[in-house]
Amino acid sequence: MITLGIETSCDETAVAIFDSDKGLIGESVFSQIDLHSEYGGVIPELASRDHCKKIIQIYKHALGAIDPGEIDYVAYTAGPGLLGALLIGENFAQGLALSLNKPLIPVNHLEAHLMAPFLDEEKVEFPFLTLLVSGGHSLIIDVKGLNQYEILGQSRDDAVGEAFDKVAKLIGLGYPGGPEIERVAQSGDPMAFNFPQPMLHSSDYDFSFSGLKTAVLYAVQDIGEINSQTQADIAASFQHAATEVLIKKITKALEDTGRESIVLAGGVAANKLLRNKISLLKSKLNVDVLYPPLSHCTDNAAMIAYLGSMKVNEATFSLASHAKPRWPLGS
Ligand code: KG4
Ligand code: ZN
Repeated sequence: MITLGIETSCDETAVAIFDSDKGLIGESVFSQIDLHSEYGGVIPELASRDHCKKIIQIYKHALGAIDPGEIDYVAYTAGPGLLGALLIGENFAQGLALSLNKPLIPVNHLEAHLMAPFLDEEKVEFPFLTLLVSGGHSLIIDVKGLNQYEILGQSRDDAVGEAFDKVAKLIGLGYPGGPEIERVAQSGDPMAFNFPQPMLHSSDYDFSFSGLKTAVLYAVQDIGEINSQTQADIAASFQHAATEVLIKKITKALEDTGRESIVLAGGVAANKLLRNKISLLKSKLNVDVLYPPLSHCTDNAAMIAYLGSMKVNEATFSLASHAKPRWPLGS
C-alpha cells in the first residue's frame, strides 16, 4: 500500500511517498528559509506564493521513477498552520486525488510530528510520553494509542521554538533562531548568565518561556554593545536554561505516569543539547528514548505520508475542504 504525503503548513514545501512494506521510498523538501530570513520570520503571503511555485517540481522530484498509478492514498496536512499555505497543499492533494481517482486523507501536522520518530521503526509501541517542541508548540503528551492523546502539560505563553527564534533576534542572529543559537552556543559558556528556569518547581507539567526571553532582553540591554563572545555566552546560557526546564518537566511526567518510553518530536528536537540530555534519561530512569533523524524533526512530508498510512480508515473521496489554521491535538 502506497501513501503519498503533502506538507505545506508553514515554510516547507514537501512531498514524500511511504510504502507500507518498504518504508519511505521517495521524499523531497524545499525550505523557504532564504525567502523569509530577511524579514526575521515567515511572511504568510510569500509562503503561499512560493508553495504554489514549487509544489509541482517537489512532487515530481519525490516521485522519481515511481509511477503515480501505484499511489493508493493521498494524505496532506490539513492543519494547524497558515491557512493560505495549507490551502495550496490541500488543492494540490485534491487535484492529484481526482486525477488518480484515489481517496484523500487530511491529517493533523502535530500528530504527524508525534509519529515521526517511528518512521524508521518496525511498528509504533504504545503507550509512550512525547515531548513535542516546535515553533508553535511545547507539549507533554501521554500517547495511549492512535487518536488517544492526553495533553499533560503545555506552554502558557511562548512555544520553546518561538523563544529560540526571538532570543536569536535579540542577540543579532538570523532566522530561524534555533539552529543559529545552537551553532554559536558551541563557543559560549552556559554558566556565564544565570537565566531563570521558569516554572521549574511548579507541581504541574506546564512551561513558560516568556520570562526567560525577557531576562535575555534585560541582559542585552545591560550589556549595550554585544561582542561575539557575549553573544555565544548568552546563546549557551539561554539554551542551557530552556533545555533544563524541558528535561525536568518530562522527567516529572515520566516518574508520575510510570511510562517506560519517551519520544522527542518537533523542530526543537533537532537540538543536540536537548537530544543529549534526553538520552541521559535512558539510564537514569531506565526508559526507552526515541527521536527522529534530524531531517524528520523539522517540517517534512515523510511524517505526513506515514501518519496517513496509519489512518486509511479515515480516507475519503469527498473534496470538501478540511484546512484549518487551528486544530488542537486529539480534537
Ligand atoms: O516543527 P518545525 O519545523 O515547525 C513548526 O511546526 O513550528 O519547528 C520549527 C522550530 C523553529 O522555532 C526553529 O527555531 C526550531 O524549531 N529549531 C530548533 C533547532 N532546529 C529548529 N531549535 C533549537 N535547536 C535547533 N537545532
Ligand atoms: Zn512542524
